[in-house]
Amino acid sequence: MNTAGSALSGAEAMGAPAWEDFTAALRLQLATKTKLQREEPLAPKTTMRVGGAARLYAEPASATDLQTVLRAARASGVEVFLLGRGSNVIVPDEGVEGIVISLAHEAWATFEVVAGGAVHVGAGLRLKNLCGRAAAAGVAGFEFLEGIPGSVGGALRMNAGAMGGWIFDVVEAVELMTFDGDVKILAKAEMHVDYRHCAELHHAIAIGARLRPATVANADSIKRQMDAYAQKRHETQPREPSAGCIFKNPPGHSAGRLVDESGLKGERVGDAEVSPVHANFIVNRGHATAAEVIELVRQVRARVRQAKGVELEPEVLLYGKNWKDVL
Ligand code: EPU
Repeated sequence: MNTAGSALSGAEAMGAPAWEDFTAALRLQLATKTKLQREEPLAPKTTMRVGGAARLYAEPASATDLQTVLRAARASGVEVFLLGRGSNVIVPDEGVEGIVISLAHEAWATFEVVAGGAVHVGAGLRLKNLCGRAAAAGVAGFEFLEGIPGSVGGALRMNAGAMGGWIFDVVEAVELMTFDGDVKILAKAEMHVDYRHCAELHHAIAIGARLRPATVANADSIKRQMDAYAQKRHETQPREPSAGCIFKNPPGHSAGRLVDESGLKGERVGDAEVSPVHANFIVNRGHATAAEVIELVRQVRARVRQAKGVELEPEVLLYGKNWKDVL
């Protein structure tokens, strides 16, 4: 609590000079190839392209530097946020009061075929590249992930899925780093995963995974399957910037159909629009703000509740906040 009596948390109370001191001290402990940047704009790092800056942003170039960043944050009470490819997040307009860590450095984009047909991948590898590298190596079974615009780490955190499968279908083990900087390997059987959910990765960072595809096929048939999925996606999903599906499918329902049947396609708040192509996508028609997206989410939820009696829950993360505090 500060003297003015407002309810600022420790992290929010950290002013610019404290951030400068924290950044300077951390910089000294990191390799030069590790990026560390104050007030880094986050909108360009997300597919929705809205929102403000990270008070501090880091792209560690090694596990050692990731560990150093996490331990420094812990010691100073700085909140840590992970950013993958930014395809399932909405960044608030005021930005993020903490340190945003991205495994975007190439060191995390590894792909290696290991004994017995499994592959070992780094958390920063894009799913598109995982599919491409696997197809080139003749490893089938990852095609369903091809169109998800995320990274392996983000996909694990969300248990991302498409075309009737989700990533944990092909996971054997996940290598993670706790926010204390300790590395652990968890077998899938030790993890609690569900539709768009992985409990163990709410308080730890996936740094790599061993994946075992379900089938074996030749490169031609893998390519055909990937093309078929890509075509289906092009026909049924919008091209404009979005965060993918905005709501989870409620048990026994399709969120897209519920929003559609509530007459909401094309509904707008500023430049945020319920896509006329797929009603479970909110698209950015050019210069949307996070506030406009959030207001549209609120309106869509209210209308679906009224028209259908179903309470939709957001699937995308509101970065650094809880949806229930803004809806
Ligand atoms: N539908 C409508 N109107 C619409 C949209 C859909 O009536 O505006 C109907 C469709 O005709 C279909 C049903 O709703 O009968 C389901 O639609 P779709 O096949 O597009 O699948 P979905 O359940 O809406 C899920 C995932 C997508 C994933 C697709 C394809 C969720 C919330 N969504 O969508 O994942 O790409 O299947 O596999 O689980 C994401 O998670 O961000 C995402 C886009």
